[in-house]
Amino acid sequence: LKNPLSVIIAQLEVALDQKRDTEDYQATLKSVLEDSRELSEVTEKLLQLAKVHSEGADIRFERVRLDELMLQTRASLLRLHPNYKVSFDIIGIPEDEEQLVVHANEPLLRSAFQNLMDNGCKFSPEKKVDVKIHFDACGKHRVEISDRGPGIAAKDLQLIFQPFYRSSQSIHVKGSGIGLSLVDSIMKIHQIGMDVDSVQGKGTTFKLSFPAVAA
Ligand SMILES: Nc1ncnc2c1ncn2[C@@H]1O[C@H](COP(=O)(O)OP(=O)(O)OP(=O)(O)O)[C@@H](O)[C@H]1O
Ligand SMILES: [Mg+2]
Repeated sequence: LKNPLSVIIAQLEVALDQKRDTEDYQATLKSVLEDSRELSEVTEKLLQLAKVHSEGADIRFERVRLDELMLQTRASLLRLHPNYKVSFDIIGIPEDEEQLVVHANEPLLRSAFQNLMDNGCKFSPEKKVDVKIHFDACGKHRVEISDRGPGIAAKDLQLIFQPFYRSSQSIHVKGSGIGLSLVDSIMKIHQIGMDVDSVQGKGTTFKLSFPAVAA
């Protein structure tokens, strides 16, 4: 895991070591801004991972509309990456709005979905994921996040949820390997089941299944 702050410091030191023209300063600021954004993303993930592990059972849950949470997640991902594409398919929308509500920690669940959508987009050449939400009257909703990217080798499937693990075929893509370990912890505290179907060269689908709501 490289330290983005050391890169930022080095760039600022070079910029300040002699007088430069405006374009040089602008180029440095642009680059420093990019590295700061990256650092902010990693820091946010590490703080969330620490929160899940330190607070565990004390994490607050609230009523959250699953369809709205997913749409907001897409919106914030597209703000960060305007070149990504996220298609949505909602199956079995219930008449009773109450059935769209799940019991969740909103920022954490949103972050988990954002990580899965981000992975699907950033690793696939078309930069696109398809999200399907199947609503279930008993609360056992299912969410599928699929991409047509490179897929994950069978030997890597048990490793991808380990903190900092990145497969050798992803080294050219930016990332720190924290995302899926955070997703795994967040799904566990929500008792949401998670399965991965992946075929190399064809793509990957993360399948999530919500627990039944107690009657
Ligand atoms: N949809 C996917 N398609 C192909 N490989 C994937 C996919 N999702 C995850 N992986 C593999 O699993 C590894 C771990 O994923 P994870 O989200 O934890 O890390 P990252 O995306 O590399 O970094 P970060 O999420 O911290 O920015 C990735 O580096 C990649 O090798
Ligand atoms: Mg990731």
